[in-house]
Amino acid sequence: MAQIFSRSADTWLRLVALAACAGLVGSVSVALLMQRSDYRTGRGWIPAQPLPFSHAHHAGELRIDCRYCHAGVERAAVAGLPPTYTCMSCHSQVWADSPVLEPLRRSLRERQPLHWARVVRLPDYVRFAHAVHVRAGVACAQCHGAVERMPLTYKAEPLDMAQCLDCHRDPAPHLRPPSAVTLADWHTDEDRRVLGERLMRERHIDPRGLTDCSVCHR
Ligand code: HEC
Ligand code: HEC
Ligand code: HEC
Ligand code: HEC
Ligand code: HEC
Repeated sequence: MAQIFSRSADTWLRLVALAACAGLVGSVSVALLMQRSDYRTGRGWIPAQPLPFSHAHHAGELRIDCRYCHAGVERAAVAGLPPTYTCMSCHSQVWADSPVLEPLRRSLRERQPLHWARVVRLPDYVRFAHAVHVRAGVACAQCHGAVERMPLTYKAEPLDMAQCLDCHRDPAPHLRPPSAVTLADWHTDEDRRVLGERLMRERHIDPRGLTDCSVCHR
């Protein structure tokens, strides 16, 4: 067969083909890594907020219960963010003239709510409700990490489909008595699986079907 390309052109073509293959393999691996990377899930990201609210101070040191500020968490789909007057119940006296709290006072004067930037957010095609989880005994920390130690709030867990499914396949070892879901220093000597299975029986939680697509996607 007659040679179509010169010898040097052939070498170049091979090199280009090799580089193309390497590039393809490379980008596929990067794509696979990105699937669970913090870049994709936004884990660890601290968004800018109207003022530097510290969970470490309020929930950690002052030990204010999560539900004081996130009042919907036990009975609604959304946990809710606290309105300005919840903060002012203390800050009309404590640190009342502090410049850091000026956005809070302005919000009260102008009757405009503070616009907190969201830290965790699911895509619209996913269904999620706090109340069922909190009442089933899934602790806040299971999905949000040690919030009471965060000076500024960040997303501590990926909260991607894999994390949801890990628990939905076998919730028992992750459950606590519902009265303990907000406690940072909760501890039990009982075996977590034994405790979890007892709690599930008591609360009639049936794990069958919890991994069906239709549970979270409609
Ligand atoms: C139960 C009382 C209470 C409530 C409710 C409360 N705070 Fe505070 N806050 C305090 C106290 C006490 C301090 C002073 C902490 C210190 O310096 O030891 C403080 C300090 C602060 C500071 C100063 C920075 C820091 O963390 O030291 C900011 C900002 C702040 N609070 C914002 C808020 C916002 C926003 C809300 C509402 C979402 C709120 N607080 C609700 C009691 C409260
Ligand atoms: C004094 C009021 C207060 C208390 C107590 C409190 N929070 Fe918050 N929380 C806030 C405010 C204000 C924001 C919005 C600003 C921010 O993200 O830091 C917030 C934001 C959050 C967010 C981020 C939500 C999002 O998507 O933007 C999570 C998660 C959260 N809180 C969990 C908790 C948990 C868990 C506890 C109990 C350990 C708790 N909070 C106690 C006031 C409070
Ligand atoms: C099973 C996992 C899970 C548990 C348990 C959980 N959360 Fe959440 N939380 C989420 C997810 C997912 C979102 C984002 C929801 C969305 O974007 O629709 C969220 C959002 C939030 C928000 C901001 C948006 C909102 O719903 O108002 C706050 C505040 C919050 N959680 C607080 C809490 C507190 C406090 C607890 C414990 C009492 C808790 N969460 C328990 C998964 C969880
Ligand atoms: C650590 C355990 C755990 C994690 C993590 C978890 N879940 Fe669940 N989820 C449960 C349990 C337990 C139930 C069953 C509660 C019941 O039947 O009372 C449940 C029930 C549900 C339901 C059914 C609610 C209903 O109305 O019947 C939805 C929807 C759901 N979860 C969505 C999610 C999504 C989305 C995520 C991830 C962002 C998630 N869950 C993460 C434990 C978990
Ligand atoms: C327990 C809740 C839950 C169940 C059950 C579930 N998903 Fe998801 N799914 C999620 C969450 C949360 C996300 C969004 C976060 C993410 O991209 O991982 C998601 C995202 C997706 C996406 C977009 C993926 C992407 O990479 O952008 C697809 C497609 C999907 N789910 C398909 C399914 C199918 C098919 C099933 C049934 C076999 C299923 N899901 C069951 C929670 C669930």
